[in-house]
Amino acid sequence: MTASPDDEAPRWLEPWSLDEGADRARALFGEHFGGEPDAIVSAPGRLTIVGDHTDYSEGLTLATVTAARTFVAVRRREDQALRVVTAQGDAVRGPGARWEGALDALAPGDDGWPSRVAGVIWALEERGYPVTGLDLAIDSCLPPSAGLGSSAALTASVAHACEAAWGLALDTEAGAIELAEACWEAENSYVGFPCGRLDTHTVLRCQDGEAVLLDFAEVPPALTHYPLYFPDYGLRLLLVDTGARDPGWREAYARRSRDASLAAATLGVSSLRALADEPGALARVRDIADPTVHRRARHIVTEDQRVRETVAELAGLGPAHDRFTEIGALMLTSHRSLRSDFGASTPELDIAVEAAMEAGALGARLAGAGFGGCAVALVRATQLDQVARAVDAVFDTYAVPRPRYLLV
Ligand code: GLA
Repeated sequence: MTASPDDEAPRWLEPWSLDEGADRARALFGEHFGGEPDAIVSAPGRLTIVGDHTDYSEGLTLATVTAARTFVAVRRREDQALRVVTAQGDAVRGPGARWEGALDALAPGDDGWPSRVAGVIWALEERGYPVTGLDLAIDSCLPPSAGLGSSAALTASVAHACEAAWGLALDTEAGAIELAEACWEAENSYVGFPCGRLDTHTVLRCQDGEAVLLDFAEVPPALTHYPLYFPDYGLRLLLVDTGARDPGWREAYARRSRDASLAAATLGVSSLRALADEPGALARVRDIADPTVHRRARHIVTEDQRVRETVAELAGLGPAHDRFTEIGALMLTSHRSLRSDFGASTPELDIAVEAAMEAGALGARLAGAGFGGCAVALVRATQLDQVARAVDAVFDTYAVPRPRYLLV
């Protein structure tokens, strides 16, 4: 008898170990370029705990990194050629699995994944590093287009590959900041996507097992490390990958960024963060006559405040259970603000969040830019499967394809 969908267990994605990721990148390299790479490097994805769509308003974010990573095998060439292959050619935007170019012919523009690779090399050259040709083989277990910073994982792993192949001495905090800025320039100035600094600075500066508070009022952003001790207290961050993303999400993101600038200009402040730091900030936001711009600004100003409160709970000394309950509540309020004020949620994300809460999660929210992709829920480790089954059941009720699950 074949099992009906109702009987199927939740679909879990297992992140690769560092050895497995390296073996895959090495095998792909050998298959396409022959021989051995000089180095194999990797970078994780970014998960926002609280604080989305604040970075481009000089705001605050509390973020961590995913266990899933992007791996790159690299070998230096002595000529101008760039040869790149990705195992994700079918899953990500671009010309397919392979791309070849030349250092003297790099031209800004968005042709999908290759422009992120070329953009990093271009940005490092602009910063004065002596560049040479490269052979690069890329493989990843990080779901693309899921709100987990897969573009930053790609640019950061390519930056590490350049660092290794060219022998750059950038394995310090200052070096990580330099690489994060180069990756941000690749995305903004080469690809032409107007993202903030959240993703690149998180994936290059946050270590496993910690959260980072990023303050974007400074360039480069100031960063404070906090131990992310949820597992020690029997809690986990559960990712629910809805597998669906609005194809127009890039335009929607750019519009949100323009609305944030418009809100600041309307109120005569340098950024919404400058306003958020003032007393009576929300009352000032009410002066924005355009109802959409008003709601967008209200999300950004209240989200900065939620980040402050979340960090205070994370670093606090009160009873752990109370603090985790409060962090969960802040995550949920953040989701509702992103949904109602910021218009960044989707029906699938809302279902995932509400179903996870119903099933006992302490908190849940969309993760990252939104417009589809992943939700993240703070869940008791003993209830992970129960929550995943409950979410699956609600997705079945709405006849929406079931999500996949991943632990951070
Ligand atoms: C994307 C962008 C980031 C940030 C988030 C939302 O991931 O790349 O800069 O704006 O969305 O917080």
